[in-house]
Amino acid sequence: MKSQIRLVLLCLFIQVAPVFAASAPVSTPPLKGLGSPLKKLSNKQLSAFVDGRESFIGTETVADGIGPIFNDTSCVACHDAGGVGGASIRTVTRFGRMMNGVFDPMDAQGGSLLQERAIDPAVREVVPKEASVTARRLTTPLYGAGLIEAINPIEILLGMVRPKPAGIKGKVAVVKDVVSGNLMLGRFGWKAQEATLLAFAGDAYLNEMGITNRYFPTENAPNGNKALLARFDKVADVEDKIDPTDGKADIDRLADFMRLLAPPEQLELRTDAAEAGLRLFSKMECSACHVASMTTLPNKIEALSEKKVMLYSDLLLHDMGALGDGIEQGTAGVRDMRTAPLWGLRSRPAYLHDGRATSVDAAIRAHDGEAANACKIYAAASASDRAALLEFLKTL
Ligand code: HEC
Ligand code: HEC
Repeated sequence: MKSQIRLVLLCLFIQVAPVFAASAPVSTPPLKGLGSPLKKLSNKQLSAFVDGRESFIGTETVADGIGPIFNDTSCVACHDAGGVGGASIRTVTRFGRMMNGVFDPMDAQGGSLLQERAIDPAVREVVPKEASVTARRLTTPLYGAGLIEAINPIEILLGMVRPKPAGIKGKVAVVKDVVSGNLMLGRFGWKAQEATLLAFAGDAYLNEMGITNRYFPTENAPNGNKALLARFDKVADVEDKIDPTDGKADIDRLADFMRLLAPPEQLELRTDAAEAGLRLFSKMECSACHVASMTTLPNKIEALSEKKVMLYSDLLLHDMGALGDGIEQGTAGVRDMRTAPLWGLRSRPAYLHDGRATSVDAAIRAHDGEAANACKIYAAASASDRAALLEFLKTL
């Protein structure tokens, strides 16, 4: 009898344990699932992950140098769906104007990224009246980001010449990496605008939070007004200082955390519909851009070395026609968008670059440009084929 009670209690515990895990204090990383570290990390790597996670969760204050203009006070404020490092329904605003067919990011008026909050109402930015384009950008998830960073660039390049269905092209984003100073392939962001996680950390620290750092040392002036900036910018730059005890600044810790985040787990295909959906994913031309996997180069972090990365993206820019966001950024023209990686799709709160789609079905139907034919095939398919495809996508 007693052993039976123990058994029942154990079963109960196994069932409710995930509930406890979900509500575990925010400072403890989960051991599995979204927000957990890559498997088989060394102790040193694991402690870099935990330290980085602290920085990612940490709220910056005015004394730390936040602002004068910013979008939020911590990375996790936006990146929290499913766990620390996730996507969310939070969007940021980009603006610019088209002048005789040429895009102007309106740098001199604080473009193209709007900082919508300020440490004082007197410095708050607005979208200038001259702007002819505004676009919202949804927060992207960071799970598995280190694997994406480690993918062999040759494989991404070869994606451009891989045979594809008529009308589908794709081009690499080439960006000047602020860390190395080299030209590199862009991999991160809706426009593939950054090549490395350290560069993105520096970019986000300045542009989302107003914390100057060694790669982005200059504060953003509110709508370009330098005099106004001077009146309100009280903390000396560079604000993100290197800690002499470990030689790291916050951006290094943030990059460590993102690099060591585990990828979203894919579920087994348990039903015939899901199996059929996988085949339809190729037949409907989805896999021409949402390439199932690429491989990482040898890497000094064993957990990132020569791994198959099931990201469902070619990391190329495609002309998406009417789905483009109207903003030119680096190599990406106004209609170009990076193929969104589909891993982790089942835990995403909204879809597409501006979060306009609340269902996967709506996201597919909004595809245009190079993906217009795939969209047409999907819309013309039988209801059961469409359902099968969606069933497969739920396993990602
Ligand atoms: C105000 C909300 C907000 C805050 C705060 C924020 N982010 Fe983001 N993050 C976004 C949005 C929106 C995107 C997509 C931006 C784009 O592509 O234009 C993004 C994209 C990213 C990406 C690219 C991932 C990919 O593959 O697309 C990285 C890396 C990133 N953020 C890191 C950070 C870090 C590190 C911090 C803290 C220093 C941070 N973010 C703070 C909203 C935010
Ligand atoms: C020509 C390349 C291309 C083809 C073909 C294509 N996609 Fe996409 N897909 C993209 C791009 C680029 C995005 C990001 C678009 C945006 O939001 O601006 C995207 C976004 C998505 C999203 C939303 C993901 C997110 O993070 O919000 C889903 C879901 C999706 N695609 C599924 C499909 C399916 C299913 C098919 C086949 C029926 C397909 N795609 C065909 C390029 C393509």
